[in-house]
Amino acid sequence: MLLHVPDVLNAEQLARFRRELAAADWVDGRETVGSQGAQVKRNQQLADGSPLRQRLGDEVSALVRANPVFFAATLPAQILPPRFNRYAGGGTYGFHVDGSVMALPTPTGAPMQQMRSDISCTLFLAEPEEYDGGELIIHDTYGEHEVKLPAGDAIIYPSSSLHQVNPVTRGARVASFFWIQSLVRDPAQRQMLFDLDASVQSLTAAGADRANLLRLTAIYHNLLRRWADT
Ligand code: NI
Repeated sequence: MLLHVPDVLNAEQLARFRRELAAADWVDGRETVGSQGAQVKRNQQLADGSPLRQRLGDEVSALVRANPVFFAATLPAQILPPRFNRYAGGGTYGFHVDGSVMALPTPTGAPMQQMRSDISCTLFLAEPEEYDGGELIIHDTYGEHEVKLPAGDAIIYPSSSLHQVNPVTRGARVASFFWIQSLVRDPAQRQMLFDLDASVQSLTAAGADRANLLRLTAIYHNLLRRWADT
């Protein structure tokens, strides 16, 4: 599923994020990538240990979990702490596939914890007219998709897809990016749950009768119970 989630950040939150990120210290983005990615990655990131990265990342995590569309589409079990990147001066990230298993941050001395990346998310923090290039190109079973969204909006897409970020030839493209492990591993099952949920919501809004809504809601939860791996 490729899904545009509008207004993850409101205008006040977006303005504050942009102000803080404009004054941030950026490091080479190759710090957080394997050897396959390092050959094609040319961008900047906030260092993983930076207090700003942690604070804004926690805020993004909380906002997406509270966003009804994001939540229904991803059914998050784990969210990797969001990172922030910046592409400028020809910065690009050539075709690559994201890592499939990622280490979650743990306190020193605690056992290692890992998550599976089912879904990738990019939250755009610069307006499309502020930069040239920087399109996110995603290859899935239906072909190639080009994504460049308004600031404050997010795209979610399968982590299994090949993707790239086109070179930014003017201005700067700033974004947050992160991965989600879903309670429902299979994308087709997740899509069916999302569609069923959307139908229940719109039938409720249209004033459908309670007995039928209750039966559909029970089916939703019983499918989720059957498919969730917790
Ligand atoms: Ni990627």
